[in-house]
Amino acid sequence: DGRRDKNFSMGGFTDVAALDSSAARKIPRLNAAVLGESPATEDDQLILPSDQFSSNANISSYHQYLEMYKRSIEDPAGFWSDIASSEFFWKQKWDQQVYSENLDVRKGEIKIEWFKGGITNICYNCLDRNIEAGLGEKIALYWEGNEPGFDGTLTYIELLHKVCQLANFLKDNGVRKGDAVVIYMPMLMELPIAMLACARIGAVHSVVFAGFSSESLAQRIIDCKPKIVITCNAVKRGSKAIHLKDIVDAALIDSAQNGVSVATCLCYENESALNRESTKWKEGRDIWWQDVVPTYPTTCTVEWVDAEFPLFLLYTSGSTGKPKGVLHTTGGYMVYTATTFKYAFDYKPSDVYWCTADCGWITGHSYVTYGPLLNGASVVVFEGAPNYPDPGRCWDIVDKYKVTIFYTAPTLVRSLMREGNEHVTRYSRKSLRVLGSVGEPINPSAWRWFFNVVGESRCPISDTWWQTETGGFMITPLPGAWPQKPGSATFPFFGVQPVLVDEKGNEIEGECSGYLCLKSSWPSAFRTLYNDQERYEVTYFKPFPGYYFTGDGCTRDKDGYYWLTGRVDDVINVSGHRIGTAEVESALVSHPQCAEAAVVGVEHEVKGQGIYAFVTLVDGVSYSEELRKSLILTVRKQIGAFAAPDKIHWAPGLPKTRSGKIMRRILRKIASKQLDELGDTSTLADPGVVNQLIELADC
Ligand code: WT7
Repeated sequence: DGRRDKNFSMGGFTDVAALDSSAARKIPRLNAAVLGESPATEDDQLILPSDQFSSNANISSYHQYLEMYKRSIEDPAGFWSDIASSEFFWKQKWDQQVYSENLDVRKGEIKIEWFKGGITNICYNCLDRNIEAGLGEKIALYWEGNEPGFDGTLTYIELLHKVCQLANFLKDNGVRKGDAVVIYMPMLMELPIAMLACARIGAVHSVVFAGFSSESLAQRIIDCKPKIVITCNAVKRGSKAIHLKDIVDAALIDSAQNGVSVATCLCYENESALNRESTKWKEGRDIWWQDVVPTYPTTCTVEWVDAEFPLFLLYTSGSTGKPKGVLHTTGGYMVYTATTFKYAFDYKPSDVYWCTADCGWITGHSYVTYGPLLNGASVVVFEGAPNYPDPGRCWDIVDKYKVTIFYTAPTLVRSLMREGNEHVTRYSRKSLRVLGSVGEPINPSAWRWFFNVVGESRCPISDTWWQTETGGFMITPLPGAWPQKPGSATFPFFGVQPVLVDEKGNEIEGECSGYLCLKSSWPSAFRTLYNDQERYEVTYFKPFPGYYFTGDGCTRDKDGYYWLTGRVDDVINVSGHRIGTAEVESALVSHPQCAEAAVVGVEHEVKGQGIYAFVTLVDGVSYSEELRKSLILTVRKQIGAFAAPDKIHWAPGLPKTRSGKIMRRILRKIASKQLDELGDTSTLADPGVVNQLIELADC
């Protein structure tokens, strides 16, 4: 059987069995059946990498992983220092401790630092360092526009020149080290260019996904007070043009009214979507990118920064209304994103890599821009929608650029799966060798379709579990190193110690389910929530003292594989986008006719989870189709189209305890029509509301 791997030899295995640290001991010693050495009896779900794949892989066996993992846990400082010094450029090496160990709030403030005292620059490491190593003429970015036939490329040298021109423009317009810059752009090459230009001069970028509404954009501008906003006049999503500049204009009026005026708005003219004559303009504030940026010099000195200097802020949703400004710093983030990219995708210099995520999310930061470019990779940047002009577009792009590593989200896999195999099989896809998944648990049937149909059973799938807060992959397959189980993110990356805890915060071992926590610091951990260290500690470190709490539930099976089961807090995951129930609720209650709202997640065939909203109307108002639409519109306006509720359920009353707390558990059961699992409703102030809600379900 060609899928059995000689590298999984039990002989080598016993050597490493002398694992002494308690953490490393918890890493499973895979049994012969899992390693494919004896027939897999009960476990027909195991999928082994081919001999050929494993023997060429960066990490080619479980044994090799285990040795490295063991060292990463027992000697994190040595493990990460070796990688940091051999693979990156430091103007000056760190002179203090490599990292701060404390993740225990009971022992004092959480202050994570890595490579403290080290001086570097991540833009220099992405571009100049690779060019010096001979990659100047290599393609850094392949750009594919929304319309087939619109495309472009930049080599590493060309990219450096563009980044320097923009960096010079920013400096000339008053942006200094430590200043914030908000970027609100679609997936043009100018988006990673803008991120890198900020990093080059020590400015802190905050990319806002260009699907957010003007109100959400304003909220972020008010919070981080940028010197400048970089945008683009419009973008076409499919056949529809969206006027981004109008959204920015509205956000800038809104933020000025709240005391934050932005002096400069740099706007890229995206001619294929909208010409400049049709773009609204404010003289004195707005500047066309094409008119000024190319006039600047193509070299720009690097601002060397401390490893702990802020690199970016990225806002994400939590369980209360206000988005959290997740702060990432430079050195540890650089080392970790590059290293995870290299191993989890088994990156080789000949690869062409495509990640379908938008740079507006963390995936686009770590695995469109920084991780791949730090490795000197060729990266595809795609502006359009994956089903435009038809559901074969992704595979058309794969064939066009000979993509070898394709990284996407389960929601896209499920939506393409519904369109039928012929949209896939009419393309060759023979360049593909590694597939990736991120954003939510991938259900085994979608996994199998992705593996069998898209990858023709040849390409391992890296199902990478991580978060905006973690900066990089935490639990992920190393594709050549061990067998996969469809739907499991498998094992922890180097340096990561996942633990499962029970309700009381006690660590539970072996085969079990619990709350997923992390036990030790890792280089790309977020350092704080911007301007809110207290919320940082309360949300992540106080729920289970001694650990970082992820907000996810998780199961560990008998072979030690981790299976993420979804959020356990009030966060919904819609198409891999994180949305706080409280944010949607506060948008709904801002509607003049809505008195109260309670939002829960409900299973959705394509999106993973859908948004289900129970609304109580103000006295005297009656429910209507028109009102339903207007409630949904309010959410679109306040947050963005991606947060629009899938269902509005009219609720004359909500199930509350006598102390007034809404019992979401009951609402979740009603939303998912699991009426025989309502459980105990006797503690409700008015048990009658439950039947009332059930009757109104299809209203
Ligand atoms: C939440 C983080 C990390 C980039 C995209 C989302 C869920 C993410 C997986 C996965 C199961 C996953 C978790 C996590 N999640 N990847 N491979 N398997 N669940 O980033 O918006 O910060 O959301 O996404 O629930 O906590 P994010």
